[in-house]
Amino acid sequence: MEPEKIDFYNLGFEFIETKEMYISNYKNSEWDEGKIVPFGPIEISPGACVLNYGQGIFEGMKALEAKTGDIVLFRPDKNADRLNESAKRLLMPSFDKEKFIETVKEVVKANKEYVPPYDSGGALYIRPLLIGSGPILGVAPAEEYKFIIFTVPVGPYFPEGFKAIDLEISKQYTRAAPGGTGDAKTCCNYAGTMLPAKETKAKGFAQIIYLDASNLEYIDEVGTANFFAIINGKLATPALKGTILPGITRSSVLTLAEEKMGMEVEERDISYKELFKDKCTEAFCTGTAAVITPIGSVTIEDKKRIFNEGQPGELTTKLYELLTSIQRLEIEDEYGWIIKL
Ligand code: PLP
Ligand code: COI
Repeated sequence: MEPEKIDFYNLGFEFIETKEMYISNYKNSEWDEGKIVPFGPIEISPGACVLNYGQGIFEGMKALEAKTGDIVLFRPDKNADRLNESAKRLLMPSFDKEKFIETVKEVVKANKEYVPPYDSGGALYIRPLLIGSGPILGVAPAEEYKFIIFTVPVGPYFPEGFKAIDLEISKQYTRAAPGGTGDAKTCCNYAGTMLPAKETKAKGFAQIIYLDASNLEYIDEVGTANFFAIINGKLATPALKGTILPGITRSSVLTLAEEKMGMEVEERDISYKELFKDKCTEAFCTGTAAVITPIGSVTIEDKKRIFNEGQPGELTTKLYELLTSIQRLEIEDEYGWIIKL
């Protein structure tokens, strides 16, 4: 879509075509130089491993216009590392970290008219995508791959914006099992969450909180975001045990809570039952798309717990302001998290 036709002040999280994308091909055990080309369809064999056996991984990042007018990225080195970790799990080739960061910058520059203005609160979402494009019949890794980076201007992931969302804790569906691929950002992890999401939305919830697949007791995550709660005044989040995506926002929030807000933080098993006790005072979820989204209530079967009368909690709001003001360079970036284009 032409950038002039986009209402940057009213964006949701929907696909909008931008001008340019990056594509690199992997063949004979090496990546080619790659190039920026006009956004458009790619040709792929119907026998491609990604189409038949789901050998695909991706990343999610944002380019923001900062208060200073700079266009900035948030910790892109961490996305490069995670892409390569996911690649390892799916037997896919890695992509050079420095080249990843440089290429992301190039793609954003090529689409810079699509970066929403600072005061809109929007972002240019960046989607690096690595797929097994070579044909294969037996279940085995492809011999050829494509690495693509495209961008989409976005507003908030949950249409509520920085308002509290209502979540359902599912005893019916799980997202990832021990030993599976829950901690890799593979396309398949998302396909299985569409039916649960559709069903829960029909009941009026924004999303599902998934419990651990072994016990249906401990919180894993939200399916597109990591989970946090304030319990006994401490910031608690599920420990990374292979079934949860190691979120970059998650790790940043843990650092900020501990070092900037003087909070005690805990990475541990959190029983969903703890959320129904008075000692749990706030809950929220984090992600590139979700940023920090307050949780107004959680429901399991016929039991509902409302936090803070359904309003964003005080500590949740402080963390949100702290994180987003670093991301938009409204305050000093003392951790060196922000990379200017
Ligand atoms: N969990 C899942 C399943 C996700 O898709 C995401 C989003 O990327 C997250 C958690 C949050 O990760 P991050 O903060 O790195 O975006
Ligand atoms: C992200 O936060 O970047 C995600 O990947 C979540 C979702 C849009 C898949």
